[in-house]
Amino acid sequence: MRTIDNYNFAGKKALVRVDFNVPLDENYRITDDNRIRAAVPTIQKILSDGGAVILMSHLGRPKSGPEEKFSLVHLVPRLEEEFNTTVKFANDCTGPDAGALAHSLQPGEILLLENLRFHKAEEKGDPDFAKELATLGDVYVNDAFGTAHREHASTAVIARYFPNDKVMGYVMQAELDNARRVLENVERPYTAIMGGAKISDKILIIEKLMDKVDNLIIGGGMSYTFVKADGGQIGSSLVEEDKVELAGRLIAMAREKGVQLMIPVDSVVADAFSNDANIDTCLSHHIKPMWMGLDIGPEAREAYAAVIANSKTILWNGPMGVFEMSNFSVGTEEVAEAVVEATRRGAYSLIGGGDSAAAVNQLGYADRVSYVSTGGGALLEYMEGKTLPGVAAIERDDY
Ligand code: 3PG
Ligand code: MG
Repeated sequence: MRTIDNYNFAGKKALVRVDFNVPLDENYRITDDNRIRAAVPTIQKILSDGGAVILMSHLGRPKSGPEEKFSLVHLVPRLEEEFNTTVKFANDCTGPDAGALAHSLQPGEILLLENLRFHKAEEKGDPDFAKELATLGDVYVNDAFGTAHREHASTAVIARYFPNDKVMGYVMQAELDNARRVLENVERPYTAIMGGAKISDKILIIEKLMDKVDNLIIGGGMSYTFVKADGGQIGSSLVEEDKVELAGRLIAMAREKGVQLMIPVDSVVADAFSNDANIDTCLSHHIKPMWMGLDIGPEAREAYAAVIANSKTILWNGPMGVFEMSNFSVGTEEVAEAVVEATRRGAYSLIGGGDSAAAVNQLGYADRVSYVSTGGGALLEYMEGKTLPGVAAIERDDY
């Protein structure tokens, strides 16, 4: 195994791909630093071996070239505070400045490169761009689990320039270990909680989970596609018309496989998509015209909490309602509390997905669940059984 523990970084410059794609507010302050905190042990290991660290990441999805709001320079103060040292910054991830800064970097020092996606070559997986990045370091460390499902220059292609010096960082290893815990030899009852706006993002994982779980709890906007498939009146709730039939098939599949599929029996509904809208509670199957379900209701919360609290293995991906608006955050909060309670009673709980992870972090529960993943799409793809290019690039000799 190409693991970071088996590598001595003394005197080496480690080019570390991290996933520092963190949410920033309008003042460019980091609102969830889970991904930064997660990367600390890898960086520490390299520094304490006597190596130098060159960090590279993307931030957001810049369309063409540099944009202030996507600059990684905003992360420098947070990193300096974390490592109690000056963090150098290269205004461009390639070119003469990055080359010079990398060249003069001393053991124990950290250099952060500007957003890789300011170059289109990154997402294209351009080998020349990957090769140019590769000249900056002596060893490649991939610790960007959240981006491991992308076959980009810095996440996968670059590995070919380090055939004997490529390793996975601690985040990557921990993520894979934790994902395996909900895939193999699980303790039962096993409950998966799937939320979020769109069923289309979750179809494959839901199908996959049907063969594994005892309970499949549905929440968030995608609930209403299920409610509609089940013959309910959903008012103007979010619905994916072209997925109603599929939702119906999933309901039937659950029945065949003996999986308890739970759709929110009631909902917190509103007459507009706003925290200031008029709100009410009603059965999810009887939502009035012009009203929309924006959170699971009190009966659903109780039913979900009871099932979760009795589970031994829990996978949670996606919020139960419009968590960002305080009037529609209760469902997500109560599910989080139930997951914490089950964990306290000895269950294993994995929180995946950007929004549910952010919710757990915001509620201060990160230490009271088993593992909060730094991956959204990457975790789902791994669980769907897909090969993650970022992982294959390290594991395979012939990549
Ligand atoms: C994420 O936040 O999902 C990862 O950082 C990957 O970003 P992407 O979805 O823009 O590729
Ligand atoms: Mg994504």
